[in-house]
Amino acid sequence: MEVEERQTRKGKYAADISSIKEAEARIRPFIHKTPVLSSESLDALSGRRLFFKCELFQKGGAFKFRGACNAVFSLHDDQATKGVVTHSSGNHAAALSLAAKLRGIPAYIVVPKNAPKCKVENVKRYGGQIIWSEPNMQSRESTAAKVLQDTGAVLLHPYNDGRIISGQGTISLELLEQAPQIDTIVAPISGGGLISGVALAAKTINPAIRVLAAEPKGANDAAQSKAAGKIVTLPETNTVADGLRAFIGDLTWPVIRDLVDDVITVEDNEIIEAMKLCYEILKIGVEPSGAIGLAAVLSSSFRENPAWKDCSHIGIILSGGNVDLGVLWDSFKR
Ligand SMILES: Cc1ncc(COP(=O)(O)O)c(C=O)c1O
Repeated sequence: MEVEERQTRKGKYAADISSIKEAEARIRPFIHKTPVLSSESLDALSGRRLFFKCELFQKGGAFKFRGACNAVFSLHDDQATKGVVTHSSGNHAAALSLAAKLRGIPAYIVVPKNAPKCKVENVKRYGGQIIWSEPNMQSRESTAAKVLQDTGAVLLHPYNDGRIISGQGTISLELLEQAPQIDTIVAPISGGGLISGVALAAKTINPAIRVLAAEPKGANDAAQSKAAGKIVTLPETNTVADGLRAFIGDLTWPVIRDLVDDVITVEDNEIIEAMKLCYEILKIGVEPSGAIGLAAVLSSSFRENPAWKDCSHIGIILSGGNVDLGVLWDSFKR
């Protein structure tokens, strides 16, 4: 289907509040309603009231299960029987494997050789069939194309897909019900599926709500795209946040352009400090990509920006918790 057609099918964007509500009804039997945590210590540190939406407790350890589950259970039986394919280095791969397992269909996962070990283990745990590729987009895409040809399965993109965006948008429905006083939501951005769904749902429910993206400096294509007014891709990325190295897509860009109020970029050391605070104060194990929202709220560029002075009740999406802790555990050994 042409991009134009896919966009206009739901009106202006690839998803809308009705597709997000449909997704919520479709995935409700399968997903966890994740808790919202708060901490007076972190409120004091940030100078705001913070509401942490704990998607690291979602099945598969990340919000990705919402979109994957919606996409897999949206397929007609005749489409679904041959299975699903994706190329992903991480959380979408595990989420798709789990969703396919629940539907009783195969999942073929093209995984780059440099993918984090714990994320590969997750794919195996949920029964995904791994096909290795070189760690570059060209190899990932050509390997996936070959799998598609061999199997006749359906390709499910990690973010540039209305069904995925709609599934991710269910986070806002839950969060605004759990903490209706929120005036701002901060979410990580990579391909933009998460923030597109979150922004579409949140701004329909409350048009005054601010939606801010958090992005690593070493993969700041969203910030550059917003500044340029068009999609910008980077020759390379360099960040500890392994889930945030993809570039925004043609279906997520219109939502990011129109509904994301700003992109806050942070350094890797700020992300690691935020992970540490999550562990020490909230007592939860968040991965780097998942902790970036807290890093953004604590960053000087956010705190010193007069535009965000009145963001007093902030929902922060802790998007995932799949992190390789081998070195940390080794450090406890005597
Ligand atoms: C933990 C985590 N947070 C955030 C993201 C970004 O999601 P999106 O690509 O939809 O922007 C990802 C993507 O893989 C992720 O794994």
